[in-house]
Amino acid sequence: MNAATGTPRRLPGDPSHRQTVDRMVRVDHAGEYGAVRIYEGQLAVLGRGPDAPTIRHMAEQERVHRATFEKLIVDKRVRPTALLPIWHVAGFALGAGTALLGREAAMACTVAVEEVIDEHYAGQIDELGESEPELRQVFEKFREEELEHRDTGLDHGAERAPAYRTLTGAVRSATRLAIWLSERI
Ligand SMILES: [Fe+2]
Ligand SMILES: [Fe+2]
Repeated sequence: MNAATGTPRRLPGDPSHRQTVDRMVRVDHAGEYGAVRIYEGQLAVLGRGPDAPTIRHMAEQERVHRATFEKLIVDKRVRPTALLPIWHVAGFALGAGTALLGREAAMACTVAVEEVIDEHYAGQIDELGESEPELRQVFEKFREEELEHRDTGLDHGAERAPAYRTLTGAVRSATRLAIWLSERI
């Protein structure tokens, strides 16, 4: 949206608009795919612990997010990112690796990832402006759920994780890099 004129930056019939939407669906599909793997990695380590029902609930919501983008990939004939096999392994490793540092570190990972995803969805919502109202609704709904996940992480002691600032800084950078790559490859 152009703040001064209130018009979308790109018009729906414009070929570059199509490219923009394709890129959004591709990166969001990758992100939700990675999110499921992060929570699966956490559950591999913490699946019998006190946080398991909470993590399982978030994983279930991520599966719905992933399924929604899998359908959009097909309906809009978008090429998925070639990096899915990487996110399959890296997402799981991030989830399991932080969980091995402890339950608070797993929650700190959740906080860091979901903060970046919140910003990411907010940027996409802004970029769509008044175009693609159905897609925008999806982004808005999922963004709310990602914020719930961030709050869940904070409520479950994320900030008590060892080296909280360093850990979340590293996870945020890794998440931003994954987004950048998935938009392009
Ligand atoms: Fe999600
Ligand atoms: Fe999430």
